[in-house]
Amino acid sequence: MVRLTKCSLSIGLHILQLMLIYNISISAAVLTYDGCMSDSANSYTVGGWCFLHYTSSSWPLNTPTQDEAQSICLPYGTLAVGVTYKMMNTLQTRNPGGTSPHTWLALVRNASYSAQNQGWYWKTLLPTGAYATFPAIMSNIPWGPGEPNNGKGNEDGAIISQNWGVGDVKTNYISSAYGSQQMTVLCQFAPNQWKYLTSGHGRFAVPAYQIARTTVKGSNCVSQCHLSLFCVSFAYNPTTKDCQLYAVSPKDPKFSGNVIADSSYNWHIRDGMEY
Ligand SMILES: *[C@@H]1O[C@H](CO)[C@@H](O)[C@H](O)[C@H]1NC(C)=O
Repeated sequence: MVRLTKCSLSIGLHILQLMLIYNISISAAVLTYDGCMSDSANSYTVGGWCFLHYTSSSWPLNTPTQDEAQSICLPYGTLAVGVTYKMMNTLQTRNPGGTSPHTWLALVRNASYSAQNQGWYWKTLLPTGAYATFPAIMSNIPWGPGEPNNGKGNEDGAIISQNWGVGDVKTNYISSAYGSQQMTVLCQFAPNQWKYLTSGHGRFAVPAYQIARTTVKGSNCVSQCHLSLFCVSFAYNPTTKDCQLYAVSPKDPKFSGNVIADSSYNWHIRDGMEY
């Protein structure tokens, strides 16, 4: 006879409950930060974010389009933006090769610019339904050889391919232009917390680096950077409460020459994104 005490019953139920939670989380929670972190074959982290190469054999070839890809990582993630060169280079080298090298990024071109290397900007759909946008800093994009070249005409979207780089493509990736392809979507998930490295004094005055400028409390300046997909660093003046968010880091050798020495501003750099 087995004597089931009240205590062992509750432990048994608890284990069952944990197993249920665990099963639910592995089947349905892939498109979350934790799901991304646990899928190490298809994910990696850069600057605190987790990036996940997401695809499904049930997707018809040449789908989704770039517009459709915008909502695939919602509501916990977004289509990936890679603001720094280090980030973009990691996205490139870690992109899967083989049958799924055709990976959508949240990089699009404003077609009203006539030159193909102009008008590129990050445009990613947020869970609110609004798009976050920021003009791409071209020197941070590892374009593939000869790209962007508008090779098939109206190439106003961008994919990233392993050990090749970023290429301009038609946003519907039609098979008549590119062949029949299994598409992949690069999703980006934010952790709950970031640390910010405080590092000396100064600011940038180059308009192309600036994401936003507001007059707010210091804690609001941190949270604005925290919530922005483009924010790499910010300069804050505690006296005037001037808060300037930047898409580049003052430690990045490509941009450090543009740092203006200014003892009234403190630098804060997003953890892991020194450059
Ligand atoms: C595209 O560029 C034109 C010209 O600079 C500008 O007027 C328009 O607002 C831009 N469109 C988008 C979607 O950014």
